[in-house]
Amino acid sequence: MRTITRMDKVTTIPTRAMLERLNPYHPGKQAPDTVKLSSNENPLGPAPAAVVAYRDTANSLHRYPDGAAHALSMALAEYHGVSPEQIIVGNGSDELMTLIAAAYVNPGETVVTAAETFSQYRFATTLYDGVVKEYPVLDGRYDLESMSRAFNAGSPRPKVVFLCNPNNPTGTFRTHDDIHTFLKQVPADTLVVLDEAYAEYAYSPEFPRFRELMTIFPNVIVLRTFSKLYGLAGLRVGYGMGHPEVIQNLLCVKQPFNVGLAAQAAAVAALQDASFREISIELNTRGRLWYEQQLQELGLGYYPTQSNFLCIHVARPAVEAVSVLEQHGVSVRSLASFGLHEHIRVTIGKEEDNQKVMNGLRELGELPRTRT
Ligand SMILES: Cc1ncc(COP(=O)(O)O)c(C=O)c1O
Repeated sequence: MRTITRMDKVTTIPTRAMLERLNPYHPGKQAPDTVKLSSNENPLGPAPAAVVAYRDTANSLHRYPDGAAHALSMALAEYHGVSPEQIIVGNGSDELMTLIAAAYVNPGETVVTAAETFSQYRFATTLYDGVVKEYPVLDGRYDLESMSRAFNAGSPRPKVVFLCNPNNPTGTFRTHDDIHTFLKQVPADTLVVLDEAYAEYAYSPEFPRFRELMTIFPNVIVLRTFSKLYGLAGLRVGYGMGHPEVIQNLLCVKQPFNVGLAAQAAAVAALQDASFREISIELNTRGRLWYEQQLQELGLGYYPTQSNFLCIHVARPAVEAVSVLEQHGVSVRSLASFGLHEHIRVTIGKEEDNQKVMNGLRELGELPRTRT
């Protein structure tokens, strides 16, 4: 597709000014004839129970979906031990980030997040003319200590904080106590979004216990997704859990039928597919441990991960590593667009595909270094 440039514009209708500041999303790519390890999808495919439920909806596709996603909200409420009024279902958790900005960010208001993190926080804020204030990660982790200084008197008080935990793309996390300490310093009229897209993979006993945090701090909303562990990225289902008042405000700005009929049915079934969850986590754990050992042997730096991907320091331009790995049959993600020019992000995959990644990294280590 050709990009329209200023020169060949035909229409003279002025767009909103923010369009100039809105960066397009860079999705994980897949080179021909390679295995895709660039978008942190489930290497085992979709949850089998979800596929059955999805197919079963085929003859009902002339019907509008349930705009309130009642069955899915009930199932999620039961699963997480919260009430259905504390849940909103979105067209992926991406949509929920935009709804948060739509409901809470007035033009010119500040939104705080990390510099090296998921790009959709910036997108959603910019869309509603908010101002993003970013704090660089420290050792790959959210620098909550510096971020809490954003609330000092004198600077404009942030309206929303987006925390990605575990963080994409570093895979690192902040503990329950860290987040709790941070939340104590955040005023009650600032919304804190805990994006936990990878929480199901987190194995640390210190990983935040979101229900406890939500009970103490009504200004917290937690985002989760069916795109990762449940293998349903193509269907677009995410959800938020928070105080009923916050949820109600988000419901006010959502499209009436935001999540499709098949997507809702598949998500309900996926949630009940405990064995798929188990084998997916097991594969990920085995892969993570294997990678850690291999990377240490090879002497390559990486951040300790609580997720289904690894952020690896390749000590040369990331694009070179991506290209060598493609020749070994795997597509991984350059982190240059995240500001990490010598890092790649690799989804932990099936054993044979992890092996291809390590073969490629070994070869990369033997190639002469280019100047950066
Ligand atoms: C941290 C984080 N949050 C949210 C998402 C988006 O999830 P969804 O597919 O539910 O929109 C992703 C996707 O990669 C992610 O990495």
